[in-house]
Amino acid sequence: MKFAFVIHPTSLEDVIRYEPGAVGKGRPLIEKIMEWMPAYTAARVTGVCTPDGRTTEGWFVAATYMPEQMLALPRETVYAKILSAIRIGADLGAEVVGLGAFTGVVGDAGLTIAERSPIAVTTGNSLTIAAGVKSLLRGAHEMEIDPACATAVVIGATGSIGSACVELIAPHVEHVVMVARNATRLRKLLDDLAGKVPCSLSIETDIRAAVPRGQLVLTATTSTQELIEPADLQTGAVVCELSLPHDVGRRVAIERPDVLVTEGGNIRVPGRPRFERVREPGRDFDLGLAPGTALACMSETMLLAIENRREHYTLGRGIDLEKVREIDELAERAGFELADMRAFDKPVTPGAIAAIKTAARERRASAVGTV
Ligand SMILES: NC(=O)c1ccc[n+]([C@@H]2O[C@H](COP(=O)([O-])OP(=O)(O)OC[C@H]3O[C@@H](n4cnc5c(N)ncnc54)[C@H](OP(=O)(O)O)[C@@H]3O)[C@@H](O)[C@H]2O)c1
Repeated sequence: MKFAFVIHPTSLEDVIRYEPGAVGKGRPLIEKIMEWMPAYTAARVTGVCTPDGRTTEGWFVAATYMPEQMLALPRETVYAKILSAIRIGADLGAEVVGLGAFTGVVGDAGLTIAERSPIAVTTGNSLTIAAGVKSLLRGAHEMEIDPACATAVVIGATGSIGSACVELIAPHVEHVVMVARNATRLRKLLDDLAGKVPCSLSIETDIRAAVPRGQLVLTATTSTQELIEPADLQTGAVVCELSLPHDVGRRVAIERPDVLVTEGGNIRVPGRPRFERVREPGRDFDLGLAPGTALACMSETMLLAIENRREHYTLGRGIDLEKVREIDELAERAGFELADMRAFDKPVTPGAIAAIKTAARERRASAVGTV
């Protein structure tokens, strides 16, 4: 079975990576062009093959809006472009479609789009959640943090991804601080989860007050601005970034060499996956990831195609944790694995991790020295 995946640029760097001619054009002009542009097929995906020989192929179809436009334009206008991207995929033979980044966030997180779609729809959030939690715990292991004695801060905790991450992180840690802007929704989440999860929970609307409390930080927000101030992070903290666009800016890499930042939603795709530009056959479509790697939401869509699942899968903001577990198992069976750690367009190598740990030790020692 074939798949389609709806993509859109999440930053100006994404636009320039695809279209170098956009350099120097300025954001307002680029946004105007995108408003006029119809959806189009950006890449063909081939070579996905599981260890037991099952395959799929598909297309990335672009619904060209920036994240800010997805949030600001009339909802029906945005739905119309996403649905036209889905129809392009369906005409190419796709039977399941994934909603990438903000195309799965806008409105009711895929429910309305699924009602109007000619093919099965998923946001891909279930595998993103499974990968994000694993990635945070891998980071803790690398930084020699015992999660059982740690506080985790989940930013975007009331969201589709964030709320499920809280539930899955809770059994591993001592305390979770749940962060978002809307206090009413946070209080409701606290009421829903208190007594249901084994660790203690608290809520916070001020990110700057929350971040210093955690050794482990996971971000899954729809903010279009960087959210984490380098000075707020604990020495030797781990930050798992799921947001697209990112919440963690390069200032963290520059100013905090003692902190391990890792993109949590990157998956190594089995086989010899090839993402080829449709406009220039033979040229790779650059996802800004390591070769052979895709986002978890793309991987979920590929998996549903491999499994011949012609049904809507992850939709809406209330995530079914059974589906998270199921897709994680399907991923494991099909050879979709957590990709090696990466952040700020670079791999986080074992040497880099050793340097981060040394920087954390030195920072702790100098803090003791100054007391
Ligand atoms: N890596 C991947 O494979 C992958 C896959 C899918 C999605 N994503 C990304 O994951 C992110 C979250 O998606 P989602 O579907 O969970 O979205 P969602 O359901 O809309 O949730 C967004 C959450 O972020 C919070 N938030 C928004 N702006 C904020 C701000 N300025 N400060 C603090 N909290 C803020 C929201 O609460 P308040 O409004 O109350 O603040 C809410 O809790 C998006 O960036 C999306 O692109 C990544």
